[in-house]
Amino acid sequence: MSAEGKDGQVADGDAASDADSLDLVRPPSPVNQPGTGVFSVLWGRPYSNQLWTYRFPVDQDEVTRLDRVHQAIRSAGLTFGPVDVLLDNPQRWPRLLDVGCGSGMWLTEVAVQFPRVDCVGIDFLEQQHVNAPRNVTFMQVNVPRGMGVLAAGSFDVVHIRQMIYAIPDYAGMLAQAYRVLRPGGILLIHEPNLLCYSAWQEYTPEQLGPALVQWSLAFRHGLSQRGVDMNVFNRMEQLAAAAGFTMTHPPHFHYHPLAPGNDNSEAQNETECTRALVAASRITIVEGGEYTHDTFSVLEGEVHAELDGHGAGGARARGLYSPWGFWWVRKE
Ligand SMILES: C[S@@+](CC[C@H](N)C(=O)[O-])C[C@H]1O[C@@H](n2cnc3c(N)ncnc32)[C@H](O)[C@@H]1O
Repeated sequence: MSAEGKDGQVADGDAASDADSLDLVRPPSPVNQPGTGVFSVLWGRPYSNQLWTYRFPVDQDEVTRLDRVHQAIRSAGLTFGPVDVLLDNPQRWPRLLDVGCGSGMWLTEVAVQFPRVDCVGIDFLEQQHVNAPRNVTFMQVNVPRGMGVLAAGSFDVVHIRQMIYAIPDYAGMLAQAYRVLRPGGILLIHEPNLLCYSAWQEYTPEQLGPALVQWSLAFRHGLSQRGVDMNVFNRMEQLAAAAGFTMTHPPHFHYHPLAPGNDNSEAQNETECTRALVAASRITIVEGGEYTHDTFSVLEGEVHAELDGHGAGGARARGLYSPWGFWWVRKE
């Protein structure tokens, strides 16, 4: 078991024991049958037995899903705020941290753009691409407690993306981001809220895509059973302020279609993102207790029909959008 010392530093950072002490929230569902090895195969896909909150598969399809999401949302910008000014600093070798870097696509693009920046990606799961540039380092760290191994004040920029549904202690993660940043450093936060909105005022989301709406509510329910608070999205400014950050600029909100109508490659990628997220959410939802594998499969089939334009909401599922927020805040 790790012992926490001064400044939140963890003296003995064993990842597996951190996992034991961190992921305490276990749903009361009768379908919960944790495996005994490092991975269990559930519904044909491998899942880590060491991360309890984040019940997403660890396989090539999941890496592809993460890369697709990256491709879909990068139009909102790779970074936000005056990050370039910090990273272009010729006086020294700036450092950047990506918390929960996933496949490492975001980090790799930043590393290519800023070859003089030391880019560190931390994640509990080993699913990073092997062809990252030389200025990228990947470390296995259990967030937020394991971040104690990173020195205080040692990064110019910290990036957090899509961690809202992975980390129950979001405030603790922001506190660690604050600790590892230098004064003047910037934290970037880029999160989805996983709710469905209607682009057309005369229709409710339920009329446009009933299965997609039902799925998003089931996913949020499954996440809440694991201690995740999706309301973090609406409280981001307060949470950042509580961690010590100053926010001088409003966030940038952008909206992504869940079932885009066009047949171009961008739209196909967005549709594939939705399809893959629904598939990846299976265990979270089934273990949440409201669905069995069979009823989830029915729901998934209905979602596919909506994505193909044949669902109960007809082609109108194309009017469903989901918001993302991009915040940048500073450590004074
Ligand atoms: C939805 S993915 C986001 C990946 C990446 N930030 C992106 O936007 O493409 C969430 C990531 O958090 C990682 N993760 C989940 N729980 C974690 C924990 N306790 N410590 C470290 N990483 C964790 C997962 O392995 C996964 O790579």
